[in-house]
Amino acid sequence: MAKSVLGIIGGSGFYNLPGIENPHWEKVSTPWGDPSDEILFAEVDGLPFRFLPRHGRGHRVSPTHINYRANIDAMKRAGVTDLVSISACGSLKDQYAPGHFVLVDQFIDRTFAREKSFFGDGCVAHVSMAHPVSPLLVDAIEQAAKAEDIDYTKGGTYLVMEGPQFSTRAESFLYRNWGCDVIGMTNMPEAKLAREAEICYATVAMVTDYDCWHEEVAHVDVAAVIAVMKDNTLKAQRLVHRLAAQFPREHQACPLGSDTALDVAIITAPEA
Ligand code: ADE
Repeated sequence: MAKSVLGIIGGSGFYNLPGIENPHWEKVSTPWGDPSDEILFAEVDGLPFRFLPRHGRGHRVSPTHINYRANIDAMKRAGVTDLVSISACGSLKDQYAPGHFVLVDQFIDRTFAREKSFFGDGCVAHVSMAHPVSPLLVDAIEQAAKAEDIDYTKGGTYLVMEGPQFSTRAESFLYRNWGCDVIGMTNMPEAKLAREAEICYATVAMVTDYDCWHEEVAHVDVAAVIAVMKDNTLKAQRLVHRLAAQFPREHQACPLGSDTALDVAIITAPEA
């Protein structure tokens, strides 16, 4: 059984986690181009740990321009078995106030200007995305959230929009009518590519705002997001440290087969 390597893709704030040992940044090259930044290699409480700043250090890369294929491939090459996406998002439900964490279990992908697959040029594969997150990883995150007394909800649908502009009110109402819980700009195609790379994936969606549908709350802007992000980041640091401390040291096979997804996905005939 393989050793677990915990990966985090998120904003800033994971460089100086409590319990972090031997941190160093390494450039990881991929055939898909450059990832958003170097990867931080470290151990947290003895567990191999890798962190990639999704938008690069200093937040330089917009959601559309992130090289998602390079990011996921670089994490795979860095040995990551279990990948947690930590993402700021808007709330589409009254009960998810800024500061709440949603452990998403579904996505609606409305992005349209991104490369979404490692396959298609000579080798075609169709992985299942029916269950886009890996249940054992979500369970482990839930245990960490409980232990840290963080307000969270397990399950929810994340609408992924292209951006970079925020939604119109009509769009925000539409997504609410579709039953979506949170909205953000980054988790697709990340989740699809993680599945193609046979990496277990889960999302912690950290609510920063009520988007623009709420009658009693000002419509989202960057200042509002940043104001809540500081506090969310401190909570996310505690969550990740606890997750690493409690994480199984041997990789647990995914009951949904996220980590063997290609066994049943490649349709191109092998060369004779
Ligand atoms: N990220 C944080 N808040 C957001 C919102 N309201 N819409 C899209 N992405 C977001």
